[in-house]
Amino acid sequence: MNHIRLSGTGSALPARIVSNQELETFVDTSDTWIRERTGILQRHIAAEDETTSSLATRAGQAALIAAGLTPADIDLLIVATTTPDMVFPSTACIVQQALGMTGGIAFDLQAVCTGFVYGVATAERFMRAGGIRHALVIGAETFTRLLDWKDRSTCVLFGDGAGAVVLSMADQPGLLSSHLHADGNHVGTLCVPGAVRGGSITPAPFVHMDGQSVFKFAVRVMDEASREALAHNQLTVADVDWFIPHQANTRILGSTARKLGIDEQKVVVTVDRHGNTSAASIPLALDVAVRDGRVRRGALLLLAAVGGGFTWGSALIRY
Ligand code: UT7
Repeated sequence: MNHIRLSGTGSALPARIVSNQELETFVDTSDTWIRERTGILQRHIAAEDETTSSLATRAGQAALIAAGLTPADIDLLIVATTTPDMVFPSTACIVQQALGMTGGIAFDLQAVCTGFVYGVATAERFMRAGGIRHALVIGAETFTRLLDWKDRSTCVLFGDGAGAVVLSMADQPGLLSSHLHADGNHVGTLCVPGAVRGGSITPAPFVHMDGQSVFKFAVRVMDEASREALAHNQLTVADVDWFIPHQANTRILGSTARKLGIDEQKVVVTVDRHGNTSAASIPLALDVAVRDGRVRRGALLLLAAVGGGFTWGSALIRY
């Protein structure tokens, strides 16, 4: 069992859906602007009593059921999130408790919107080193809690949710390779510049973003990381059945697909219904496409993400 396969997927969304029309009632924006610039029609927003860990737990439970496993089978639990329940302990340990797990390795991973790809790549490296049979990798966010609802340039873009995968040691190849990058020169381009200090958060607890810089960078590096994964496996864009990129907005997805030369029909798009859910966006999109029957066993999946830092990366998976 030298290989790693994706043995189950799951996801969870808050029940509350907020449409663009509802945003119009309290933000100086319009449904037309949001649709044309981002492709977003609605987003899910967590209820007061929902947390990143509660969404992560639901997504994790669904992935475990899909994999035919129980929490006791999991040797490694990684939660990729930018919106942990607490400063410490990790959201992964809170999820562990909720799932009834008392053993294994559990930690959070912070790579913002690239968090899920970083999580898969980290689990892969743990698993190839030996000693891990099954890993649960969850991307989970209550990202809307970082939004300044008076800042129309950011607050219309994001949503809450969680997605999860179980990775299992297997006889046949599944996860072919993963590729990670980071360049800290861009820290200020996309950030929440807040730290807990003496009882308050300074200087600010809200998302700050240079939208156009993020846009250009995102298209370039998601294309580069995708090509890197394909070249590493001596495969081409024509071999890909489904491209599942970070769901930032439909213009970024469209530009990346054109640059990469992949048919837009092969791009899984959920940003229209979910908004940008940061680390949750790829596993949410993957789970939607698995459950609606588009992604079938044997399909070649190309994942690519970019996020604050900047961080970026890709993974190629034979589902
Ligand atoms: O995970 C990565 C997270 N980040 C992203 O995905 C962001 C990437 N960037 C983008 O997707 C785009 O840059 C945005 C969608 C954020 C903005 O689109 P844009 O075409 O770059 O618009 P802009 O920032 O150049 O703004 C154009 C106009 C401005 O008005 P003026 O100066 O032309 O009068 C903005 O004030 O649109 C205005 N504007 C809005 N109008 C209505 C900005 N936000 C809004 C809004 N509603 N929500």
